[in-house]
Amino acid sequence: MSRNILLMTGDGIGPEIVAEASKVLDQVNSRFSLGLVMSEAKLGGQAYDEYGAPYPEATRDKARQADAILLGAVGGPKWDAVERHLRPEQGLLDIRSDLQLFANLRPAILYPQLADASSLKPELVAGLDILIVRELTGGIYFGEPRGIRILEDGQRQGYNTDVYTESEIRRIAEIGFELARKRGGRICSVDKANVLEVTLLWREVVTEVSTNYPDVELSHLYVDNAAMQLVARPKQFDVILTGNLFGDILSDEAAMLTGSIGMLPSASLNKERRGMYEPCHGSAPDITGQGIANPLATILSLSMMLRYSLGEQKAADSIDAAVGRVLDTGLRTQDIFTPGTTKASTSEMGEAVLKEL
Ligand code: IPM
Ligand code: MG
Repeated sequence: MSRNILLMTGDGIGPEIVAEASKVLDQVNSRFSLGLVMSEAKLGGQAYDEYGAPYPEATRDKARQADAILLGAVGGPKWDAVERHLRPEQGLLDIRSDLQLFANLRPAILYPQLADASSLKPELVAGLDILIVRELTGGIYFGEPRGIRILEDGQRQGYNTDVYTESEIRRIAEIGFELARKRGGRICSVDKANVLEVTLLWREVVTEVSTNYPDVELSHLYVDNAAMQLVARPKQFDVILTGNLFGDILSDEAAMLTGSIGMLPSASLNKERRGMYEPCHGSAPDITGQGIANPLATILSLSMMLRYSLGEQKAADSIDAAVGRVLDTGLRTQDIFTPGTTKASTSEMGEAVLKEL
């Protein structure tokens, strides 16, 4: 049985990091006889340049056929002046929504080899292993009405709507509880139930869902407190479950606890567990084309793809282990470089992983 993998480099450093990941994918594909068939499509700014839309039909058709998608990153200053609905970021929101990728998993794991790269004291972050489960296709990102309107007194007013139905909350909560059950058995739901009704409902529904998971310990935090706790005592967290906007913010914060956002993969899944996999970092226009970007987040995204969408645990484990061994050798891209380690370019890092495989 062959399975279709769609590769989308996107913009900025996207092509550089996906090039390395794609070599790794080819190697595990043949070594483990996975029967994966790769194809390519464009998303974001590169799609806008070629087709005039950030998520063009040609990409949509391929994306809907794919068993899994690997994405580099989208966006960059080149498209700053483009109308909002044609911006690269809109392509990302459109594909998430089109494929109903409602479950966004963002692990924040501190590799012991990189403890010195964190801005927090090593004892606060040593052994850190948090999984953020972010709702990705609802909430204020997609709620209607939205826009900028002119009021009667002539001034402009911007408005968005934060909405969640109970079924949207229930399905992401179930994913969170399932994952917590397989990890540390604890889940912290983050909301702003003291102010926002939409998140009061969030809290109620999450609490209802929890009755089906008596083995998982549920706690709740308001988002402001959660942001504080993440830097004060990050190791108290196992799974963090939250909505689209809070998840966007907290996942960047959690990523930085680990020293480098250049190490963190992510998965965005639909209800059949088909998904799109991408590094958590963005397109990094400031370092584009210099060959210094860290390809490890993208390579680790591949491992998540093999694990979650393709059920190929062995191949996934082999990638994780190879990355661990490369870090053991002291090889570092500039984002995770500390004195005493060896600086590597994007392709040197990719080659090193290939060799360790
Ligand atoms: C992310 C990004 C996106 C988001 C942007 C690029 C639309 O910040 O994946 O976290 O806000 O979801
Ligand atoms: Mg973000």
